[in-house]
Formats: sequence, C-alpha cells, structure tokens
Amino acid sequence: MSNELKDKKYRPQFHIAPPQGWLNDPNGLCQMDGIHHIFFQYSPDNPRGGDKYWGHYETADFVNYDFTGILLSPDTPEDKDGVYSGCAYTENGTMYLYYTGNVKHPGDYDYIYQGREANTILVTSRDGKSASPKEVLLKSADYPATLSNHVRDPKVIFKDGRYYMVLGARTKEDHGCVLLYTSDNKKNWTFDHYIKKDDFGYMWECPDLFTLEGRQFLSVSPQGLKSEAYRYQNVYQSGYFSAAGDLLTNECQLEDFTEWDLGFDFYAPQTYMDERGRRILIGWMGVPDAEYDHDPSIDEGWQHMLTIPRELICDEDHHRILQNPVQEMTELRDQLLTEEVVDLPKSIFLTTPYELLLSDLNGNDFELTFDDDLHFSYESKTGFLELSFGQENGAEGFSSGFGRTSRKHLIPEGEKITDIRVFVDTCCIEIFANHGAYVFTTKYFTKEPSHHTATVHTDRAGLKIYGLKPACFKTI
Ligand code: FRU
Repeated sequence: MSNELKDKKYRPQFHIAPPQGWLNDPNGLCQMDGIHHIFFQYSPDNPRGGDKYWGHYETADFVNYDFTGILLSPDTPEDKDGVYSGCAYTENGTMYLYYTGNVKHPGDYDYIYQGREANTILVTSRDGKSASPKEVLLKSADYPATLSNHVRDPKVIFKDGRYYMVLGARTKEDHGCVLLYTSDNKKNWTFDHYIKKDDFGYMWECPDLFTLEGRQFLSVSPQGLKSEAYRYQNVYQSGYFSAAGDLLTNECQLEDFTEWDLGFDFYAPQTYMDERGRRILIGWMGVPDAEYDHDPSIDEGWQHMLTIPRELICDEDHHRILQNPVQEMTELRDQLLTEEVVDLPKSIFLTTPYELLLSDLNGNDFELTFDDDLHFSYESKTGFLELSFGQENGAEGFSSGFGRTSRKHLIPEGEKITDIRVFVDTCCIEIFANHGAYVFTTKYFTKEPSHHTATVHTDRAGLKIYGLKPACFKTI
C-alpha cells in the first residue's frame, strides 16, 4: 500500500472508488476482447465534486482493476462545463461512446429553462485510453421544443438493423420523460417518440432500455417522486418499469415501477450485456443532494463508490428482476470462517472485508447487527425488512451512518424471507435478500473500519462467513 493510501482508513477494498476526488455515475459500461470497461463521472480535484470528466477502470475479472486515467475532459465549447453521463455501444472492436456535453452560459439564469445547453456528442475508442475527436450529433435546438434545458444521458442500443437512443429529459411543464431517437448509421438521429408515465416526477435521468429473457425493461432515475411511507425514501429514486408491448415502437405502456435498491446510497445505474451474455448492472453508491453529505471519506480526499457488479435475471413468478453479485465475486473468498446452524444470539469479531450468508431462514425473524450500530432485520409479524442506524447516535454519541437513519420495505404478504447475503467492505455494505429480490446498499463509517463485530440473532438459520481478499486496484 502506498504511503498516501495508508492514512486513508476508509478506502474500500473491493469496491471501485475514485483514485482521488469525486465519483458519480458509472458510464460507458461494456466488455470487448475480454476486458470490462468501467468509465465513471469523475471530478479529480475535489471530493465534493466539480466539473465532470470520464475516468476509466478496466478489468478482466472484477478482481484486478487498472485505473488508466481520464479519457474525456471538458475541453471543447460543446462540453466546457462537464462531460456528463453516457454509454458505450460496441461494434467490430470499437466503442462508440455517446455522452452529454454540458454548457452553462454565464449570466443570471436558472439553468433549468434557460442558460444551459446539452449536446449529444460521440467519440470512438478501441481501448478506453485514447479517443477520436469529438463529434457533436445533436444540439439543444434539435430536441423537441416542449423540453426544458435538461436533456441528457444517452444510451444507444441496436435491434433488427436499426440503432435506437434513449435520452432522459424534463419538459417545460416539469414532467420527467424519455426521448426515443432512431438512426441507420449511429450518427444521424431522428426523434421518434416520448416514453412517459403520468405524474411521475419532474426529471428522468440516466435512462436504460434493455431486454432480459425476452421481456423489455426501462430503467430510469426519476427526480421529484413524493416520498411514501415505505417507498421512495431517498431524495431521488432509481428503478425500472416493465413494458407492456414494445417501447421501441410508439404503442406501449409502462407498467409498475420497482426500485432497484432500498438502501441509502444508490443512484444512476447502468446495465450492459457482457461477452458471456450476462446483463450486468453497476450503480453509483451515492445520491445527489442527499441530506447525508458529510461522509468522513471527504477528509481523506475522496468521495463515493460504485456498487459490486450485479448480474440481472428475471423472476418469472413475481415479474421482477433479481440482482446478484457476479459470480467472479466468489474469487475474493479467502477463508471459510464459520459454517454452522445458529439458534442463539451469536457475536463474531471479524476483519474486513468479509461476506456473511444466512440460509434456511424460512420466514423466521432475524436481526443482523454490525458494530452495535447498523441493524438489518426482518419481522414476520409486520412484514418489514429494515436497515437502520442506531437512533441513539451510537456509543459515545457516534453514529456510523453520518446522517443516515432508517429504510424500511414491506415484503408482500405470503412471501417469506429465505436467505440473506451480505458483502461488508471497509466503509460500505451491500445486502441481497431472497436471491437478490431485495437489495439494500449503504455507506457506513465506523470508528475502526478494519474490524467489525457482527451479531446474528434468529430462531434458526444456517450461517456462513467468508473472509474476503481485497481486490487489486492499480493505476497504470
Ligand atoms: C446523474 C447525473 C446525470 C448527469 C450526471 C452529471 O447523477 O445528474 O444526469 O449526466 O449526473 O454528473
């Protein structure tokens, strides 16, 4: 470990974090010639954010990662205030990277309805380390006149000989929607139709249209949804609609919206199909404008992470998507520390990182406690699955949640909680329940992040704990 990193006690050991400064959305996700490319929104100079660049990690195995530097910088008049989010479409060994060039005119503007431009820009790259010159494909004046200045985050797909692009947008009347464009050559785009849902927020960011086992889904990150008792509890949401019909044509309804993640720190995910045909999702472990904005990692000069890559599959019985860590994550397993049936409270002192599994819960109540402060529990009487930080502000007035409080989800009647899988890193936790039907992600800053005490409390369950090896992050 370099001297610089030695002082950074909260650096994660298997989650992607920015080498320094700020990270937000994953961008340009794809796999080519065995290498997964993971770009991300990056402000290298300030852990509280700033102008956005595209940083680039690559990995062949989700265990060894190389940070190869910045691919795209805000260095042209069309993206001078930020190389915003976008995607990778791959063809014949080339990545076509589409992104939004953010431009803010100097002056007294609100930057919602006036003063901002959002250009759709294309570059190509074969390796994520160098790119062709930027080509502006669409300018603000090219978008439908009903829209505000907020149009962004292109995602391009190919189907039956045609290219399709979705863009997230806010109308002048403050309705979130998606714009669907088509093209025959990846460069000239024609607006085709809107994809929208009545009364569903004022802005939809980061759209992603994909097919899973023959069913079509639209993922979006809507802003402006009213918080409900046990839904939409973060300031902004991220989730997916299933489609009744074909969203690529005009005649299609969006069905129910399901939140991807029920924890405190998740937003702006993107999916891609890898070379094995898996649909993989990576999310930003952070939320813009969250009220908990004083993570202690800021004092170490960095902020935010990406989630574990999650493989998506359809749960046919429940018409929902299951998310589970990609199989490569099992390569991080080092020692099996415990394998037993627990029926009495049990506390274990553990070195981070580790993975904890509960099986055969069979609907039994349980509570998992991490360092006496972070609780994850299920109560069959009420049906609540809950993630909460100590309300007493922890021991000695310290709360590892740094402003995070409680998130609850109501499990539908008749469904039992059967299994839990928890990945614990230095400063974050991802919890997968019922084979990935319910996922909770949170950051978590204990005083001594290199060690945690985990307490399991349940009538009866199988318990397994693996110590994990750290992933290897190199800068090249
Ligand atoms: C989502 C988002 C995107 C935008 C990017 C800017 O978090 O607001 O809509 O492109 O971040 O960093």
